Amino acid sequence: MEKIDEGKKDMDEVGEVISCLRKKGLIVDTGALEFIKEKNLGCSDVESIRVESLFLTKEMIEAHIGKVKVSETKEVEVALEDEDELCTDPEMQDTNEEESPEVNGTGERSPCVRVESPLCDEPRERRIDSFVGYFNARYNAMKNLLLRRQELKNLVSLGRFTKYSNDRNVSVIGIVTGVSKSKAGNTVVNLEDPTGKIMVIIKDQKGIGEDELLNDVVIGVCGSTFNGFFYADSIVLADVPILNNAKTVSDHVSGVFLSDLHFGSKYFNKGIEERFLKWIMSPSGAQVRYLFICGDNVDGVGIYPGQDSELVETDIFAQYRLFEEFVLKIPRHIQIIICPGNHDAVRIGEPQPALGRDLVPNICDAENVHLVGNPAYVNVHGGDSADGINVLMYHGYSFTSIVDAIPYLRQKGLVNPQYVMEYVLKRRHLAPPYGVTVGMPEKQDALVISKIPDIFQTGDLHSHAIDDYRGITLISSSTFQDQTPFMDRVGHVANPGKVSVVDFHTREAKSIDFSS
Ligand SMILES: [Fe+2]
Repeated sequence: MEKIDEGKKDMDEVGEVISCLRKKGLIVDTGALEFIKEKNLGCSDVESIRVESLFLTKEMIEAHIGKVKVSETKEVEVALEDEDELCTDPEMQDTNEEESPEVNGTGERSPCVRVESPLCDEPRERRIDSFVGYFNARYNAMKNLLLRRQELKNLVSLGRFTKYSNDRNVSVIGIVTGVSKSKAGNTVVNLEDPTGKIMVIIKDQKGIGEDELLNDVVIGVCGSTFNGFFYADSIVLADVPILNNAKTVSDHVSGVFLSDLHFGSKYFNKGIEERFLKWIMSPSGAQVRYLFICGDNVDGVGIYPGQDSELVETDIFAQYRLFEEFVLKIPRHIQIIICPGNHDAVRIGEPQPALGRDLVPNICDAENVHLVGNPAYVNVHGGDSADGINVLMYHGYSFTSIVDAIPYLRQKGLVNPQYVMEYVLKRRHLAPPYGVTVGMPEKQDALVISKIPDIFQTGDLHSHAIDDYRGITLISSSTFQDQTPFMDRVGHVANPGKVSVVDFHTREAKSIDFSS
């Protein structure tokens, strides 16, 4: 008991020292932390430390303690960002409240990030009625989107369907619960809504693709009734409207889009990391104000059988230290938005919560770091709700299973992720068939694409693409990880080091190759 108390006291003292250093704008790396513990240093020992780096190392503390001036280190106190220039208040960020932008002395709007992460339900037992509630929520959210489609005239609920006379042109909205072929070669679709169920007959010559009729997808159907059957003329998907004018901002600022860094992997490509950091700190990267990192920040532990042999770091916390060191090297005037992926150490069920203090203690309080869930809607560089660029971040764990399920995607989807992105946008759902990702039966379906983003960013496939769908910029970010034996097994083809950059003033999107 006495030992436990002593340990707690030691940790409290170390915490105090870290807190003192944080107030000075300094972040302690792993080596420095161990040194502080080993030498039992207190706040008074470190309060006069002045270094130009944001990242405090063991050597810097040693030099300070020994009154030895490190020749190559200019002794300048690290200047914290003027809090008034940043519109991101960590407390407000936690509650996802909106923040007011300000204009700095250069006339450029100060960086501003507003986050709308889906809220995960409190941990609770999931029962059958949890799934019923979840699918009702999915149906209602998708119905609201489908109701905007002009094609769906004379809508009737499925429970009232049999009351309509023959040959009346009607429309219905329902969730697909089964698809089969009749003896005559027609497609038979079982549709369900909260009021009832019907069978929809699609005559063979209608040419409606089977990709539109997967289970759990909510669709609209236009057709006619005859002898108690509903014959479909067309299928209506929720889709996104065509955006004629790409939204821009008045300032010449850019966003950079990364994903799947996989720190801790034996196949992590250090050269890509170094070249990227050199670029973003150079005049070439001077326009960058926002950096989006779309999950799989570390390689993780126990993600697949035999993964240990593909890791250089088997401790998950040590993997996150490596990731933090990378984040802390990014210039502090750049706002960094980070979501988790399926390799991160949060729950795999989607929506995923943001990375917590337990995983990233050294960056979670940084004013320029925004930890968001997966998926998340992020507005950057905006003023009121009509301004700024809206980014939908989704790691993309459902994409591999969608590619497997859809014949036309099987041919090209893994190396052309933009086709999968179009597929989910058309259906306004990030994982249309239930089970292509680990979907949590929450009270709301967070995977419904309820809002139209300006930019849709994904990752996961380790491929790379920049494209456009109806005015939405599609970005599939590649990776800092080379091809791995595991990727060989699942058919993924890595295209590492391709980094997407979007100029928010012109909306021009380009990729920069850091692979060599
Ligand atoms: Fe990944």
